[in-house]
Amino acid sequence: MLVLLEPDFAALSREAARIVASAVKSNPSLNLGLATGSTTLGMYAEIIRIYREESLDFSDVTTFNLDEYLGIAPDHPQSFHFFMRENFFRHINVHPSRTHIPDGMIAGNYEEYCSSYEQEIRSAGGIDLQILGIGRNGHIGFNEPASSLASRTRLKVLTSETIEDNRKFFIPGEKIPECAITMGIGTILDARRILILASGDMKADAVCNHQRTKALAQLLDRKKSHGRHRLLCSRFSAALCSREHQKIVRTRSQRNNIGLDLRRAGRRRPVED
Ligand code: F6R
Repeated sequence: MLVLLEPDFAALSREAARIVASAVKSNPSLNLGLATGSTTLGMYAEIIRIYREESLDFSDVTTFNLDEYLGIAPDHPQSFHFFMRENFFRHINVHPSRTHIPDGMIAGNYEEYCSSYEQEIRSAGGIDLQILGIGRNGHIGFNEPASSLASRTRLKVLTSETIEDNRKFFIPGEKIPECAITMGIGTILDARRILILASGDMKADAVCNHQRTKALAQLLDRKKSHGRHRLLCSRFSAALCSREHQKIVRTRSQRNNIGLDLRRAGRRRPVED
C-alpha cells in the first residue's frame, strides 16, 4: 500500500477523483466500489467536474456501494441511496440499472439477500477499484475495527455509540436505524485496488494506529498488495499522530517497502522519516 499525504481536504479530493477518473478512462467498464460519508463529498464533486469538463463516460461503469441502513426507504434523506443519488449518480451518465446499493427495505431472509449481493459482485467480475472512508474509531463500512478479515456482506446491529451519533440527523421522535447491511472486510479485501480516504484531525488515530483496524493492518502488511492500494490522508490526520503511532507508520513502511510519499505534504513534514 502506498500512503500519500495530501496538504488538505481539497487536494485529497482532487487526487482521489484523479485516481477514479483515470481508472474509468483506462477501463470504461470498470466495476467501482463506492462509499458514502462526508470525506467522499469532495471527491464526488471533483469527479462530476471532470465528467463535465473532460467528458468522462460512466455509461458502462457498474457501481457497488458498501452499505445501507436497514428500515430506511431509498428516498429518506439519511439513506445512502439518497446520498449517492444527490451527490453523485444524478450528475453523471451512470445507468441506474448498473448502480447497486444494499436494499435497506428488505425484511427477513437477510442471509439470502446478503449472499445475493455478494453473487452480484462476483457475476460482474469483482470490484476493480473500491473507495473507502474510515470512521473515527477505524470502522470501514459498518465493520467495526475488530471485524473478521473473512467477513462477507451481512446484517450488522449498530453499536449504541453509532445509534446515538446518528440521532442528530433524524427528526425528534423518528425511528433511528439500529441495523445496517454492509459488505464484509473479506468482500472489501477482494477488490483489485483499494483507495482509502481520511481527512481531518478526528481521523488521526484511525489512520496512524494501524493495529486498531484489522483491515488496514492487513492491507499494509500484504506485500503482494504493494503498489495496488492507496491510503490518501490529509496532513492534518497524520500530523496529530502520537510519536508512537508515527513509529508504526515508519517501521511498517520500511519493513514492507511501502512508499511513504511526503512530496505532497506541504512544507511541514507530518510524519518524520
Ligand atoms: C459509509 C462508510 C463509512 C464512512 C465512515 C467515514 O459508506 O462506509 O465507513 O466512510 O464512517 O465517514 P465520514 O467520511 O463521514 O467521516
